[in-house]
Amino acid sequence: MAVTISDKHLMKFMSCEEYTAIAPQIQAAHTLLHKKEGLGNDHLGWVDWPVAYDKEEFDRIKKTAAKIQSDTDVFIVIGIGGSYLGARAAIEFLKSQHYNALPKKTPDIYYIGNSISSTAMAELLQLCEGKDVTLNMISKSGTTTEPAIAFRILREMLVKKYGKDGARQRIYCTTDQKKGILKKFATDEGYETFVVPDGIGGRYSVLTAVGLLPIAVAGADIDALMQGAADARTDLMSTDLEQNACYKYAAIRNILYRKGMAVELLVSYEPSFTMMSEWWKQLYGESEGKNHKGLFPASVIFSTDLHSMGQYIQDGRRILFETVVQIDKPKYEITIGYEEGDSDGLNFLEGKTMDYVNKKAFEGTVLAHTDGEVPNVILTIPEVNEHELGYLIYFFEKACAISGYTMCLNPFDQPGVESYKKNMFALLGKPGYEDLRADLEARLK
Ligand code: PA5
Repeated sequence: MAVTISDKHLMKFMSCEEYTAIAPQIQAAHTLLHKKEGLGNDHLGWVDWPVAYDKEEFDRIKKTAAKIQSDTDVFIVIGIGGSYLGARAAIEFLKSQHYNALPKKTPDIYYIGNSISSTAMAELLQLCEGKDVTLNMISKSGTTTEPAIAFRILREMLVKKYGKDGARQRIYCTTDQKKGILKKFATDEGYETFVVPDGIGGRYSVLTAVGLLPIAVAGADIDALMQGAADARTDLMSTDLEQNACYKYAAIRNILYRKGMAVELLVSYEPSFTMMSEWWKQLYGESEGKNHKGLFPASVIFSTDLHSMGQYIQDGRRILFETVVQIDKPKYEITIGYEEGDSDGLNFLEGKTMDYVNKKAFEGTVLAHTDGEVPNVILTIPEVNEHELGYLIYFFEKACAISGYTMCLNPFDQPGVESYKKNMFALLGKPGYEDLRADLEARLK
């Protein structure tokens, strides 16, 4: 298995009986998922997607990515939430956090439409000056305000630059196959479209065209990514917790949650994992945070955040546990050299790699935090590549579904996200929201 789990640093917080007690509930969640009998069972398209994906569209994604690589300096991903987080997470993890700045043969990639900041937009427009630009507008519904505003502004910039016909060759829309305002608009304008499949929610959509087109533009091997997910789909079927790291992780989360843990802190010692953590937070936050339930998903990068959040984790309220994602083999090795005179006192590390030191920081931290009564569960992946990433993505998606069912909730809807949208539309004077507007304005006075 490409993801292994260790509960060695948990055993003082949990007993074997607790695994035994929760096992039938995990088994029940597995049955609900695979028999498609659970809540949200119209959103299970992701379960078989790694083998059932549309092969014709997949080839078109690769061809389009090659075209974009050949004629584009700046590729802009317009989307919010599940419509951009997965792509950005995969690109930064596989390539680099500094992807745009490092030497490469692929376009720079920017993400917009994930806020309503005019500063972010103005800066992006400046970045595009004198550059060849391509847009990928991604929205399942097509009605999400943030990306819709960004798309309007950037479309205008593209039409000014290339004319209407030229812009048409540089705009790709990823949206619903048949319905929605964006689908209609793209069809009317003659933009090439890709599909957000029915039955796959935004936060489960990274392995569809939503994530695959940007990831392919960045030069990553999307065949290997899908193969990793397909291998995870095959591997992660056993309901024996000792045979299935994914189900064991779901079980541990639920056991700790029921013991009063309120926060799960995802920890990585690789800065390039930062956006993966953002993707994971959306996946778990939107899936479990409902009916006044759910673990609050938070994240840190160590050792960076040991110098900011470390004090709280070691010594603050005992409401959290840590899930550490470890990478066995780093992408690069750097060895610490010898210095005459040892003026910085580091000669004791001569000949050691930075990764060796990083791993010792991990070991020391796990022991310190467990001494401080913070349970630690360790997930390990062998290395950073497309296959391992595809596996990890599927691992987290399936663990999330099993965990959500075990918490007796629907892991596939997100009713709470609508509340702010309704209020914002009303306050902006959108037709149809007049009564709500009057009420909100009175409350804001
Ligand atoms: O996971 C989700 O469903 C959400 O995060 C959506 O992806 C996000 O709200 C964007 O929606 P849409 O793709 O319809 O613009």
